[in-house]
Amino acid sequence: MVTKEWIQAALRPIADPKLGRSLVEMQWIRDIMIKEERISLTLVSQDKDHAANEAIEREIRERLQQAGIQEVHIRIRNASESELAEAGYSQTHPTQDTDKAPLKGHGAGLESLPLLDPNSKVKFIAIASGKGGVGKSTVTVNLAAALARMGQRVGIIDADIYGFSVPDMMGIEEVPHVENGQMLPVERFDVKVMSMGFFVRENNPVVWRGPMLGRMIRQFLSEVNWGELDYMLLDLPPGTGDIALDVHQILPQSKEIIVTTPHATAAYVAARAGAMAIQTDHEIVGVVENMAFYECTSCGEREYVFGKGGGARLAETLSTDLLAQIPLGSPDNHPSEPDFSPSVYKDDTPIGRRYDDLAAVVIQKCKED
Ligand SMILES: Nc1ncnc2c1ncn2[C@@H]1O[C@H](COP(=O)(O)OP(=O)(O)O)[C@@H](O)[C@H]1O
Ligand SMILES: [Mg+2]
Repeated sequence: MVTKEWIQAALRPIADPKLGRSLVEMQWIRDIMIKEERISLTLVSQDKDHAANEAIEREIRERLQQAGIQEVHIRIRNASESELAEAGYSQTHPTQDTDKAPLKGHGAGLESLPLLDPNSKVKFIAIASGKGGVGKSTVTVNLAAALARMGQRVGIIDADIYGFSVPDMMGIEEVPHVENGQMLPVERFDVKVMSMGFFVRENNPVVWRGPMLGRMIRQFLSEVNWGELDYMLLDLPPGTGDIALDVHQILPQSKEIIVTTPHATAAYVAARAGAMAIQTDHEIVGVVENMAFYECTSCGEREYVFGKGGGARLAETLSTDLLAQIPLGSPDNHPSEPDFSPSVYKDDTPIGRRYDDLAAVVIQKCKED
């Protein structure tokens, strides 16, 4: 059901063109009313001719439309003297809030979060794929564990709100706890993890729409005490939908790793996710080909169960590198062991070593810039 909070979350990225502050946070998008499928709201304006409002109005409509709301009625009223002064539009402070650089378009207000501070050295890497089931989450948790084995401080945000799986895959049984009013991520294999899965009762499907993801990621970035991090991996939902786009907007500095299987069609579909990264100016670190082959444990012969060459071709299409080929195989784990996890390969196993190599390449590539 659509609520006022939900609409506010959807519109929060829209910034005042001069101050760069979120119009929702300034309370300049207000009086939100919901009646059946129809939304009405007031836009407070500092521009007496209302000429500048067109772009804002358009963005409000677009964002709500993306979320499935077609009928939007927008009233515009001029800001009062006190509203102008409060916002920072006074005679003594002409048009700019001098404390804060004006923010560009989306993502308003986020730059103040420690993790997103331009001086922060955290490297964000989104793990993307064209479709589900190719091993995106498996690659995320194993790359994270391998980076941690190499002494890197690593976090994971499980951003796949519909198919969150990271806690289960890592064998996490506890939930985050709150200390001094701040939420602490759960740690497993020296990796800090946040997932919507911690907050949803077992097997209750999540029926949120796109904008909620943006809100969740913001909260995970702003309200969770991550401590110092070198890498933050984001396990994205499959495809190139609104959700992936949201992440691109919230984390413009994020790099991307594209996961595919060796199958030609899978690589073709994955190319779309890569094309979006390129269009939105996100650097692609490279391609990981998962389920690349099956290696016979007794004779060592390789069988290319899902075809061959998809990863290399995809890397070529995207003008990037094939970072790793991960064979088929399940982690040799036993539920009775204390470090049991269904999906994390141990470091002294053939697949674990491949993830160590992948982590080394990723560290090297991220050093280059
Ligand atoms: N290299 C692999 N060998 C065998 N099984 C794998 C491999 N990679 C992933 N899987 C399995 O395939 C399924 C899908 O993987 P998952 O990481 O959940 O994909 P996605 O996140 O892309 O949907 C899971 O059951 C996972 O355990
Ligand atoms: Mg997944």
